[in-house]
Amino acid sequence: MAHLRYLTAGESHGRALVAILEGLPSGLPVSVKAIEDELVRRRHGYGRGPRMKIEKDALEIVSGVRAGLSLGSPIAIVINNSEWEKWRHVMPVEDPPAGNELTRPRPGHADLVGMLKYDFTDARNVLERASARETAARVAIGSLAKALLRELDIQVLSHVVQIGAVSSEEAAVPLPAQGETIDGSPVRCLDPGTSEAMVRAIDEAQAQGDSLGGVIEVVAFGLPPGLGSHVHWDRKIDGRIAGALMAVPAIKGVEFGNAFTVAGQPGSVSHDEIEPDLTRSTGRAGGTEGGMTIGGTVRVRAAMKPLSTLKKRLRTVDLSSGQPAEAFQERTDACAVPAAGVVCEAVLALVLADAVLEMFGGDTVDDLKAAHTRYLTRVEERRPR
Ligand SMILES: Cc1cc2nc3c(=O)[nH]c(=O)nc-3n(C[C@H](O)[C@H](O)[C@H](O)COP(=O)(O)O)c2cc1C
Repeated sequence: MAHLRYLTAGESHGRALVAILEGLPSGLPVSVKAIEDELVRRRHGYGRGPRMKIEKDALEIVSGVRAGLSLGSPIAIVINNSEWEKWRHVMPVEDPPAGNELTRPRPGHADLVGMLKYDFTDARNVLERASARETAARVAIGSLAKALLRELDIQVLSHVVQIGAVSSEEAAVPLPAQGETIDGSPVRCLDPGTSEAMVRAIDEAQAQGDSLGGVIEVVAFGLPPGLGSHVHWDRKIDGRIAGALMAVPAIKGVEFGNAFTVAGQPGSVSHDEIEPDLTRSTGRAGGTEGGMTIGGTVRVRAAMKPLSTLKKRLRTVDLSSGQPAEAFQERTDACAVPAAGVVCEAVLALVLADAVLEMFGGDTVDDLKAAHTRYLTRVEERRPR
């Protein structure tokens, strides 16, 4: 059983999103402002649609925190929909909804399969929940996971390494202190020249009514060796991280370290050899071996598909008539790769915080820190001198 569990609820245009995080120890400083700041980071990024200018993410913490500190009880966060008054007639809880049914499902979305599976004639019943608006809830509780990790000097960040055909493939792994520089780029890319080319590529796609995907690199620094375990498949940290990243909407591929490159190379140049002091001078494996963190940095890439709600409409079928048709349109982003990076950070932080609590336990942050320090001291004693 997970040591840090979370649930989210809420439809994209419903009254509010709700997130519950269970398992956080007591004594963790929690601030509404810090959570809001993460939500602002998720809303930004070049290529996002008009909704991002409207969304305010007015959030409330309704349980689990007192006087700025976690109580050890479940933390519930409500993120209100600032447009609810406009949408309450479309999304009423009891009354018949206003507006026409959406019967021309968009390829690449949950629309068609959701309509078949849940027996709906209106795709809105599916898309409202499948929409990436839900990721705001994951970012909100992910910020608490990040705060817990910071207590152990573990930091998570992300940067964009590719948008469409523009890539900084050989990009150096950022330093922990470069988070602000990354966020200063409109596409959250470290290299200014590549940033500009990415912005131009998004402009071109947008002008043609098209969309672009890309690749995000997510990095965690300061990890102890041994998070996760080799002993059972569902305890392996790489599987847990990959699962969480793949569950971010539109993420279609995950790569640890240089996985797709080393797949084409001989073994003699594909591993991270062990130095006399037990450190590694390369990071080809991305920081895990045998389902455990090796200690230090974990580096993972996530591939995001181009978004599938398009002005350049894709072919579909109108389910009300059975006739070929063009897919319906919702407000949409042309590119959400920079924002998806923030979501990937949140889900990586949640997996790592869960693994930390599994390994070190503790009902208070101080107990957790003491167990972490004791373990690091023991590991340090094993290093040859
Ligand atoms: C931050 C973020 C924003 C997104 N914005 C949009 C959008 O504006 N339009 C769109 O068609 N898809 C958007 N998506 C992707 C869809 O939510 C996703 O493709 C869809 O739910 C189907 O799921 P799947 O791609 O994982 O199969 C976004 C994804 C993320 C992570």
